[in-house]
Amino acid sequence: MKAIVVKDQAAGTAGMTLVERPEPQAAINDVVVQIHASGFVPTEMEWPSTWTDRAGRDKTPSIPGHELAGVVTALGYGTTGLSVGQRVFGLADWHRDGTLAEYVAIEARKLAPLPGDVDFTVGASLPISGLTAWQGLFQHGRLQAGQTVLAHGAAGAVGTMVTQLAREAGAYVIGTGRAADREKALEFGAHEFVDLENNALEDVGCVDLVFDVIGGDVQKRSAALIKAGGTLVSIVGPVEARPAAGLAVDFVVEADRAELGEIVQRVRDGRLRTNIDNVSTLDDAVAALNPTERRRGKTIIRVRPRGHGDW
Ligand SMILES: NC(=O)c1ccc[n+]([C@@H]2O[C@H](COP(=O)([O-])OP(=O)(O)OC[C@H]3O[C@@H](n4cnc5c(N)ncnc54)[C@H](OP(=O)(O)O)[C@@H]3O)[C@@H](O)[C@H]2O)c1
Repeated sequence: MKAIVVKDQAAGTAGMTLVERPEPQAAINDVVVQIHASGFVPTEMEWPSTWTDRAGRDKTPSIPGHELAGVVTALGYGTTGLSVGQRVFGLADWHRDGTLAEYVAIEARKLAPLPGDVDFTVGASLPISGLTAWQGLFQHGRLQAGQTVLAHGAAGAVGTMVTQLAREAGAYVIGTGRAADREKALEFGAHEFVDLENNALEDVGCVDLVFDVIGGDVQKRSAALIKAGGTLVSIVGPVEARPAAGLAVDFVVEADRAELGEIVQRVRDGRLRTNIDNVSTLDDAVAALNPTERRRGKTIIRVRPRGHGDW
């Protein structure tokens, strides 16, 4: 099969190459998925799991990319709940070979059915940003209707999901980002927008929940805005600043079939819009994943062109 591989952490995405690799086999409880579309997060190049297995052994050349949408082609021993020919989408294991390839072997529990009226390209754009927003808001952030959320990077991949899901849940959403992102953040549902380049973050007053996708000084200044009993949720590593009288949690997104189902249902009925900036083929993926201009949403690699079993 064709796959994108990386061998050298120092080279980052520039070191990606398109090669031929053997097709993966389904282990116990796995399925093999023929990938139609794949999503990639640029910071994968910094994650240890891109370069080593769980025991810390070098696993390069490794296949990056952890979001996928495609069709099940084989079941491993003991696999239940999915069948050959089924459309699926989900989040691949961090430590195994990923989804910038024509096939992937993945535990069935990390996938959910992809309804026939949701395009593979859209399906592949949802798992990381959708699940991260869902888990940060509802599981870790314990968001309630009527609360105020400070959604950093509100025009980004995770931020647009945070904004939409929080607003649907009845929260008041203050989005943040660069000056150029104001319109997009408001269009995705933020009630107001703080331009971190020109406005004072402190002017927003007190909030119940900070959803941090930036870290550093922005995180520290945000922690000081949290009401007693509120929560700072960070997805950019260990929390450096804790609210005086609230909780702080950092987490890494996990695959969850039921939550994937909740997310895709919202896409189907128009409550949730995905944030895709660029769609490219696998042959052009190296160039697409090394953009020369600022991207304003996700890059999705359409591994299998439309018309090949897309329904
Ligand atoms: N822990 C987890 O499970 C998890 C899951 C998903 C993502 N993440 C991480 O979360 C981060 C965000 O992911 P994403 O996919 O949403 O990225 P993204 O699409 O690039 O969105 C981030 C947004 O925040 C903006 N931003 C960043 N720093 C800023 C600053 N100092 N001032 C103003 N705006 C700023 C970015 O603008 P620019 O593009 O101009 O910088 C961008 O619009 C990444 O570091 C990613 O690795 C973690």
